[in-house]
Amino acid sequence: MGRMQFDQEALQLHFAGKKIGCRLHYEETVDSTNRVAMELAQGGAPEGTVVLADRQTAGRGRLQRSWQSPPGCNLYLSIILRPAIPPRDASQITLLTGVAVTEAISAVCPGRVGIKWPNDLLISGRKVCGILAETKMAKDVIDSVIVGIGLNVNIKKADFDPAHRETATSLLEETGRDHSREDLLLLVCERFEVWYEIFLHDGFAPVRDGWLARTEMAGKRLRVLFRDEVREGAFDGIDKDGALLIADEQGAVSRITAGDATIMK
Ligand code: BTN
Repeated sequence: MGRMQFDQEALQLHFAGKKIGCRLHYEETVDSTNRVAMELAQGGAPEGTVVLADRQTAGRGRLQRSWQSPPGCNLYLSIILRPAIPPRDASQITLLTGVAVTEAISAVCPGRVGIKWPNDLLISGRKVCGILAETKMAKDVIDSVIVGIGLNVNIKKADFDPAHRETATSLLEETGRDHSREDLLLLVCERFEVWYEIFLHDGFAPVRDGWLARTEMAGKRLRVLFRDEVREGAFDGIDKDGALLIADEQGAVSRITAGDATIMK
């Protein structure tokens, strides 16, 4: 299949009247859509502005990792938000993004998408989507939250970096067919808007329920890297504020507020 660019006009039309997507900033190549979004936010861009790129030359991942971002096949987008919430709740937005994107891609992969804390989306145990939320503070209140979403849509297994080939996947690999990036973009933004509204009106509790219903971790043993320390235990849900809970052999529960979790066999 030939390389296709995004149909910006069609997208603008679909985004009319929406909150998420009210502005669409498209560039064929950027270093990182999160970086561009941060800059636009600094310049006063409104909530709901979406930055979209065909390709990133320095896509950023969590924990200082990079995000492989070749042209013509995947979705790389960042959403600018200006939530009036306490800074300590900002990380809950990354969890709600996981729920929203799971719903969106479940349209093409029903019943097969699961969330790994905090917000990796997995199909058959392989990562199909990564989420990177970055918060910009103005004194002690939130100025903006940038939600970056990288979704592997039509990338082929052979085109993944060798380091990720066995642990990453794409919608193409999982379903055996190509998917429209435009359709998925609209779906992601639509589900995001729904969950973001729920979060702003009703708080984190319904998001937490949605997350727990879609997690891949239920009943699993986990290994977690937290503050340079490795901890193992059984998944024990997430806390009222979104922290990961793991229980050790004695039943003592610890709260993990940041880091990376591995699901053990
Ligand atoms: C992760 O799982 O480590 C998070 C990956 C996030 C990648 C997306 S792609 C669009 C946005 N721009 C970036 O530079 N990163 C995020």
